[in-house]
Amino acid sequence: MRRAIFPGSFDPLTNGHLDILRRSLPLFDEIIVAILNNPDKAPMFTIEERLEMIAEILPKLDRSNCRVTVDQFSGLTAHFARERQAIAIVRGIRAVSDYEYELRMALMNRKLEPGIETVFLMAGEEFSYVSSTLMKQVLELGGRVEGLIPESVEARMRAKLSQNG
Ligand code: PNS
Repeated sequence: MRRAIFPGSFDPLTNGHLDILRRSLPLFDEIIVAILNNPDKAPMFTIEERLEMIAEILPKLDRSNCRVTVDQFSGLTAHFARERQAIAIVRGIRAVSDYEYELRMALMNRKLEPGIETVFLMAGEEFSYVSSTLMKQVLELGGRVEGLIPESVEARMRAKLSQNG
């Protein structure tokens, strides 16, 4: 049983995240999308909203033979991966600029849990500039983000923005 975790903030999930998830499906028997519950950050979406949004989208994935679930965690990613008996941590790389941070994180995670490998997957070029932060900024300022985030996520973002005035 090859289980991996795909950790992140997912505030919110973008099509870039989905691209990485799709690419990882043939590599593992099970993938847990693992949302970090970080009390230090003021997210746009609560952890419950993020869990719900991702759970809504997962059934639409063509999963090959991979089981995909979503969960939340607090504390260290490496410890969560160990608890779930994962063999790998999946992370996406969009551009060279991601690499340095991701490398440091991967090495630290390997120090913490030597038996768990980080697997870097290259995002599709069309998502190389997509980030949750940029999507929030563009929508907030009236720009269009079609094709960059799932429609259901965009609807929730718009609802949240109008709620917040
Ligand atoms: O989507 P993000 O914000 O790029 O995800 C970053 C995340 C959640 C993977 C990273 O911040 C993380 O692993 N945080 C948990 C704390 C931890 O394990 N820190 C040590 C890693 S070096």
